[in-house]
Amino acid sequence: DKGNHRHFMAKEIHEQPEVVGRTVAHYVDLAAGRVKMPAELAVDFRKVNRIVISACGTAYYAGLVARYWFERLARLPVEIDVASEFRYREMPLFATDVALFISQSGETADTLASLRYAKAGGASILSVVNVPTSTIARESTAVLPTLAGPEIGVASTKAFTCQLAVLLALAIAAGRARGTLSERDEEGLVSALISVPGLMAEALKSEADIEGLARELSKARDVLYLGRGMAYPLALEGALKLKEISYIHAEGYAAGELKHGPIALIDETVPVIVLAPSDAVFEKTVSNMQEVAARGGRIVLVGEAHAAREAAVETMATVAMPAMNPIIAPLVYAIPAQLIAYHTALFMGKDVDQPRNLAKSVTVE
Ligand code: F6R
Repeated sequence: DKGNHRHFMAKEIHEQPEVVGRTVAHYVDLAAGRVKMPAELAVDFRKVNRIVISACGTAYYAGLVARYWFERLARLPVEIDVASEFRYREMPLFATDVALFISQSGETADTLASLRYAKAGGASILSVVNVPTSTIARESTAVLPTLAGPEIGVASTKAFTCQLAVLLALAIAAGRARGTLSERDEEGLVSALISVPGLMAEALKSEADIEGLARELSKARDVLYLGRGMAYPLALEGALKLKEISYIHAEGYAAGELKHGPIALIDETVPVIVLAPSDAVFEKTVSNMQEVAARGGRIVLVGEAHAAREAAVETMATVAMPAMNPIIAPLVYAIPAQLIAYHTALFMGKDVDQPRNLAKSVTVE
């Protein structure tokens, strides 16, 4: 049932404040201001030396965001790879590793094969899945469910942000256990996590502006997405969403990599979508934007309105985001990334819920 929406994808994008709220509530003790993990998560993070993450597609990008959280908040080294590589690369695993698998369906063949490889190597197996009865859930030592509800649109949206919510809660729990976060740090992070649904509702108000951009973007043959820090995996996710449903060629890049090659592509025909939360690397991203602008590139800046004004870079459009603690920016900035893809594909008359050549669940290699 699509409710009042034209597509499942639109419904699932708009449902995010609700389902992320539900997921956050599952992992947070509101009264205590602390995170809470399921009892079956019998991992002593003080004895863990490394987290090894594997997943495919959008779930892999959730893992890339989580790498920043585990490293920053819990000082835990992270190794991450797409499951189709992970399963064959013969990575050495140790009993002090925790292996983490992320999957909406819980049935993705490569992710399952990676899980079995890690299990054979003696690592503890955690999974973040949306389907609790799935094969990946059944074969894990502990399951951290996302409470996104059924995701029907082939392009993953609400499952992604729910994965991020679970992963941030897990990183906070690991940081507390390892003593890298104080009780006060935890309270601050938990209140940031609790603020996400409200901020997502704010971010959804950018929809009208994004709709207005769809015509311009639909004319492009190539689109670049740039981001730094946690916005880098988000740039990858934005590009994946756009290419999946609009069939426009899109690439996500770490903003700092621009001058190492992709800047050669910039001219007035290539829109450059810059995801720029007001975080510690914002100024660096601004200088990359200036490089794009100097070459005639047409920039769509997704960021806080005041920051965009202060950046004083000539843009084709600004998509305004609310102010927030930068640690949770990936959850909120996912919304404009999804809406840009949705409205561009819709404007082009594409079948957004059933893009060509794609299946919701990839159960073969
Ligand atoms: C992108 C998308 C895919 C999936 C990937 C993994 O919008 O939906 O990239 O994220 O196939 O699927 P799951 O999460 O079911 O393992």
